Amino acid sequence: MLIALLPGDGIGPEVVEQAVRVLNVVTDKLTYETAPVGGAAYKAQGHPLPAATLDLAKRADAILFGAVGDPDCDKLERHLRPEQAILGLRKELALFANLRPAKLFPELADASALRPEVATQIDMVIVRELNGDVYFGEKGMRTTAAGLREGYDIMSYDEGEVRRIARVGFETAQARNGKLCSVDKANVLETSQLWRDVVIEMSADFPDVELSHMYVDNCAMQLVRNPGQFDVIVTGNLFGDILSDQASMCAGSIGMLPSASLDDKQKGLYEPIHGSAPDIAGHGKANPLATILSAAMMLRYSLGLPDEADRIEAAVAKALAGGARSPDLGGTMTTAQMGDAVLAVL
Ligand code: NAI
Ligand code: MG
Repeated sequence: MLIALLPGDGIGPEVVEQAVRVLNVVTDKLTYETAPVGGAAYKAQGHPLPAATLDLAKRADAILFGAVGDPDCDKLERHLRPEQAILGLRKELALFANLRPAKLFPELADASALRPEVATQIDMVIVRELNGDVYFGEKGMRTTAAGLREGYDIMSYDEGEVRRIARVGFETAQARNGKLCSVDKANVLETSQLWRDVVIEMSADFPDVELSHMYVDNCAMQLVRNPGQFDVIVTGNLFGDILSDQASMCAGSIGMLPSASLDDKQKGLYEPIHGSAPDIAGHGKANPLATILSAAMMLRYSLGLPDEADRIEAAVAKALAGGARSPDLGGTMTTAQMGDAVLAVL
């Protein structure tokens, strides 16, 4: 199976290197091709998402992505900026489902923004719709009758869009503990009323999944009050953007959290949720565990290798239990030493 490696900028190459070391220990079924993306691609080839990079991403069975973002490129026109590469990949590959697990390893409870007794129970996945909602609706600027400037963004979902993300939510719940919480604002939004109706209709096809509904404002509050109640959350693009950032902070360091962006087949782009961290790039201080855990998700969701994924996740937990700590976790280990610690367990 072909893996497209798109390391990108800053700490991206440093953390992707460690993930590949780990992948090579658990499976020999993968081949790799590397291509530049982001600021690195702009500097080498004049575009953040060169045609050859996009072509590799399309040909590959899965994509392992580091991060993009380069301060040298901050003054470029928007379409040439490194961050356009990730948006372009999501759009070109129709990656509509964003899965963000937020799990707090018990050893890291003191790194969470929450009280330790609340934080230890965090182990959830937020399934966020990525190609629709208010971000993609008609938008513009106009003048009201009273002569005031008015900005507007139309929020909409059609039932097909809701159905395909809800299916990912139900299936993710089936693969875990069979609990799905659909988050909306159905008390005031028409979009959300449709969302809720469609999710309820679909639940007939998933009798083994226990479905609940929650308003988004309550969900934000419950994530802080009692995050342990959640297993899988499915929600729209806007609500999911906010809730997944919130959940990530509950779970400790940004250097720990992986993500997957999936299409309607099995293709996916896997990346840590963090960016290129220019402040620590080149110093060996980056925590590679988010990327190593992203690689595990890739094995599970795109490559049909769930046992190998389990092995990686267990090895990360064991390395942490054994004291592996990069600076973001309050330790002194380098990026490579964190990789070594996981390899030593494997
Ligand atoms: P960032 O996530 O790169 O860094 C935020 C803070 O977290 C920094 O202090 C950084 O040192 C630390 N950090 C991040 N990852 C870490 C890791 N693995 N280990 C230890 N510490 C880590 O976010 P920031 O600074 O807002 O953005 C930097 C660049 O990254 C920008 O150009 C931004 O646009 C881009 N970015 C790219 C993303 C992507 O490629 N998907 C996502 C988020 C930001
Ligand atoms: Mg966000």
